[in-house]
Amino acid sequence: MSERSVPVPSRAPGSAPAAAAAPAPGVPRLAARGLVHRFGVTTALAGVDVELGDGESLAVMGPSGSGKSTLLHVLAGILVPTSGVVTLRGREVQGLGEKERSLLRRSRYGFVFQLGQLLSELSARENVALPAMLTGTSRAEAEAAADRWLAALGLAGTEGRRPGELSGGQAQRVAVARALVNRPEVVFADEPTGSLDQATGHDVMKVLVDSTRAVGASLVVVTHDADVAAWCDRRIDVRDGLVVAPGSTTRAGVGPRPGERAGAPGGDLLGPGGAR
Ligand SMILES: Nc1ncnc2c1ncn2[C@@H]1O[C@H](COP(=O)(O)OP(=O)(O)O)[C@@H](O)[C@H]1O
Ligand SMILES: [Mg+2]
Repeated sequence: MSERSVPVPSRAPGSAPAAAAAPAPGVPRLAARGLVHRFGVTTALAGVDVELGDGESLAVMGPSGSGKSTLLHVLAGILVPTSGVVTLRGREVQGLGEKERSLLRRSRYGFVFQLGQLLSELSARENVALPAMLTGTSRAEAEAAADRWLAALGLAGTEGRRPGELSGGQAQRVAVARALVNRPEVVFADEPTGSLDQATGHDVMKVLVDSTRAVGASLVVVTHDADVAAWCDRRIDVRDGLVVAPGSTTRAGVGPRPGERAGAPGGDLLGPGGAR
């Protein structure tokens, strides 16, 4: 497996058009403002702002139950926030209907989850080809593109195997290939290495970060692993549904608490260990 540059296959003829949108200067690819999300009485997100630039990778860290998956699901249009705004290239997406959001996810986003997301009855090739076929690419072209992706991610020779015949690391690389086959604008990954040993997990994460970068997609990755976070361009930490300073256990970047000085300099820019 090459260390740095993943040789990214070219777009399959007839496959979904890239990121329709021309880059708009000054407009973040993905942005969220004031995200609040409640599940009944549980507040999973308590007011989160996030921005993601073109081709930027963002690691989301935090303890279990802190709201990381909810944030990812809201950013990706899987969940509609209780309040707040999500924009993709400046266009609001949280107001779209279920059908439009589904189309958006299918054509412009890629997803990698923990394990078990591959369809067990399909081969590696068919698993990777499926998202391309769902956006209108012919089966032959989608499977050819799948083979190119599998080869690019070090999986030549496994095309005909089913997920049960792959190692955990191989299966996650298939999942990465599947997330990228439509050349998405944003890739969302929720603890993609959570079921792997550390060495295998790092291998998969390098493939994910490098190949996402190589296609020009932006990346949001939820991870517990600080090494993984370090490969990303930026990191945010989430606690109790709020973004806090990296490494801190207290809140920051969300304005002063009652009784705190307003406008304290650098309040949202505390470095590691710099929190109160
Ligand atoms: N579908 C749901 N229904 C009710 N509560 C949920 C649901 N999903 C998440 N929660 C709650 O929201 C909070 C944040 O969860 P989650 O975003 O999954 O955290 P993380 O991914 O950081 O572990 C937790 O208290 C969790 O129990
Ligand atoms: Mg989670």
